[in-house]
Amino acid sequence: MNPLLNKIVCGDVLKTMKKIPDNSVHLVITSPPYNVGKDYDNHNDRMDYKEYLDWLMKVWKETKRVLVPGGRFALNIAPTGIKNFTPIHHDFANQLREIGMIFRTEIIWYKQTMLKRTAWGSFKSPANPHIVPSWEYVLIFSKDKPRLDGSVKNADITKEEFMKFSDGMWYIAPETQRNGHPAPFPEELIYRLIKFYSYKGNTVLDMFGGTGTVAVVAFKTKRNFIHIDISPEYCKTAEKRLEKAKREASQLKLSSIH
Ligand SMILES: C[S@@+](CC[C@H](N)C(=O)[O-])C[C@H]1O[C@@H](n2cnc3c(N)ncnc32)[C@H](O)[C@@H]1O
Repeated sequence: MNPLLNKIVCGDVLKTMKKIPDNSVHLVITSPPYNVGKDYDNHNDRMDYKEYLDWLMKVWKETKRVLVPGGRFALNIAPTGIKNFTPIHHDFANQLREIGMIFRTEIIWYKQTMLKRTAWGSFKSPANPHIVPSWEYVLIFSKDKPRLDGSVKNADITKEEFMKFSDGMWYIAPETQRNGHPAPFPEELIYRLIKFYSYKGNTVLDMFGGTGTVAVVAFKTKRNFIHIDISPEYCKTAEKRLEKAKREASQLKLSSIH
């Protein structure tokens, strides 16, 4: 039995992942700190780039270890820096291929944030214009084989959802309810990944879980979850969100009985 199952665990990613048994997770969805100097509660988001990549390489190896054969890794990441462009997504993809993960595809999460842009570079001139990333990637990898085994009765995606989500360009606005966190996931992004890539009853891990978006959506979609984050503050928020989701689910159950 996995001691971390369906719990909000506050701790360091590497130390905590060591407690997850081999081959026990079906889907990992995460977004690591991007190393762009964001104001996290308990993490230095301006590490030396090589040190940052070495640290994450250890996390990717643990990710591979805990996934079942056929298990998926959905990694949300964006290129960082407009003037000093850093193709962080290429570096991560290369690291994951180096450890033998199968690179399946990339989803473009189009965030529709262009209206707010201010960094034009040389405006209206080819001298040095800037491209503003109005999108992020979700890179999808599989461990060992493309197919995830499971019973057809636990496949709960609808025909409409399947057709919509299988188009790799996802138009989803960024989360507006930040809950005191600089970079939370929108629930819709996680809902799509969970429904598309896992069966009901599977286990979904987010080892940089923040305010608990993956945990909450996994609960709502009847999956098990493992949530890890180093910040007690964000873990507290995740607990509250989860309690709220549980209350709403039991109220719904009650009102369907009466
Ligand atoms: C990009 S955010 C993830 C946000 C999350 N997707 C959400 O919806 O709230 C990255 C998270 O990594 C956490 N973190 C940073 N260093 C960590 C470490 N060593 N161990 C565990 N979590 C860490 C930060 O506290 C932060 O919440």
